[in-house]
Amino acid sequence: MSAAAPRHWRVAPGGTVSGSLTVPGDKSISHRALMLGALSQGETHISGFLAGEDCLATARALAALGVRIERPADTEVRVHGRGPRGLRAATEALDMGNAGTAMRLMMGLLAPQPFDSTLIGDASLMRRPMERVAEPLRRMGASITTQSGRPPVVVHGTPHLTGITYTLPVASAQVKSALLLAALAARGTTQLTEPAPSRDHTERMLRAFGVELSQHAGVIGLEGGQPLRATSLAVPADFSSAAFFLVAGALAAERPLTLGNVGVNPTRTGLLELLRLMGADIRVHARPGGTGHNAEPAADLEVRRAPLRGITVPEALVPLAIDELPVFFIAAAAASGETLVRGAGELRVKESDRLAAMAAGLRVLGVEHELLPDGLRIVGAPQFSGGCVESFGDHRIAMAFAVAALKARAPIEIRDVANVATSFPGFEECARRAGLGLEAL
Ligand code: S3P
Repeated sequence: MSAAAPRHWRVAPGGTVSGSLTVPGDKSISHRALMLGALSQGETHISGFLAGEDCLATARALAALGVRIERPADTEVRVHGRGPRGLRAATEALDMGNAGTAMRLMMGLLAPQPFDSTLIGDASLMRRPMERVAEPLRRMGASITTQSGRPPVVVHGTPHLTGITYTLPVASAQVKSALLLAALAARGTTQLTEPAPSRDHTERMLRAFGVELSQHAGVIGLEGGQPLRATSLAVPADFSSAAFFLVAGALAAERPLTLGNVGVNPTRTGLLELLRLMGADIRVHARPGGTGHNAEPAADLEVRRAPLRGITVPEALVPLAIDELPVFFIAAAAASGETLVRGAGELRVKESDRLAAMAAGLRVLGVEHELLPDGLRIVGAPQFSGGCVESFGDHRIAMAFAVAALKARAPIEIRDVANVATSFPGFEECARRAGLGLEAL
């Protein structure tokens, strides 16, 4: 968490948004680029890197494991790969900050190393479930302890892992990716089946590093022992960060708002489909060739204000929009009619309990809703009241309620926003440039 970051925001009610923005690089891809770069042979170049607190925690952890990482510019990184067996034990516990992705993927990366590691994090991360990764890694032969399922996670590394055939109980890219990282160093083949597709950045990037991977009828197969060849990766802008402005634009862009070079991997863009089902006007201008070697498609997204209608969210889209649901709930709150989201119980174990956090904020804003065990029912209203909303230290809750101010009658104060720096450094400036009346307190 950045010490200089403000603790609270006041966002003026109403207004419009417009113009052109480029939001920072993709968080999921930036974490993976650092980790795969570290395991590869040679020097990996990353451009468009997200210099947010979460990815910097991954970079610090890898440096503590002996990886030389240079940052010739804020968003440019050079990773000097150590090869699959080149890491060394860290002298202290690895602090992953607020980053669940970093901790879970590091579990898979560390399980086959010939030394022990301890993973810790901030108060939010220390509450998050880690057995979903530890349990299948143990099936591969790993030795991992958690504290009643939560961090600190102690990984007693062993170079003798064996590939497994495993069906993930939840659609989780973090679990899938941790297992693929461990599988790289395991004897034999690992075969993973997901209950529903989740983001596939790891699979795409492994191929960019020269690893062969099979994908048939929803089963991913990886043969252990394959070397990784260092490469050059261009990280597109983070769809999850663009999402706040897609909703802001759908609510209040009298003139177009354009978001440049956004990653539009179809395993991430469920929000586009949801907003379109509601009647949003979003145009996708594909960038030919995507972002090069890592084969991640990118596009410029242009959004204009349009009347939104409430919808019943198709459950298949939930994993494809999982991080965007907080701001989607704001779109639902401003739509005509009722919106129902079910099958989103995973939101309860994110950086905060995002269902409870959004329900608490919607209550403050006078939006009629019902908190369900695995979702929310929201009755849209043309305007919200203002008030003081708690972010629960969760970056995406804070940014979602900043967008809500566009439909409020009075200012919205948002408490405890410092963690926005984990995923979206520069959000305040982007928000003001787009037209939001955001003031740091
Ligand atoms: C991520 C996967 C998702 C997502 C998280 C990033 C990743 O988590 O919510 O923000 O980079 O793999 P789950 O795997 O828990 O669904």
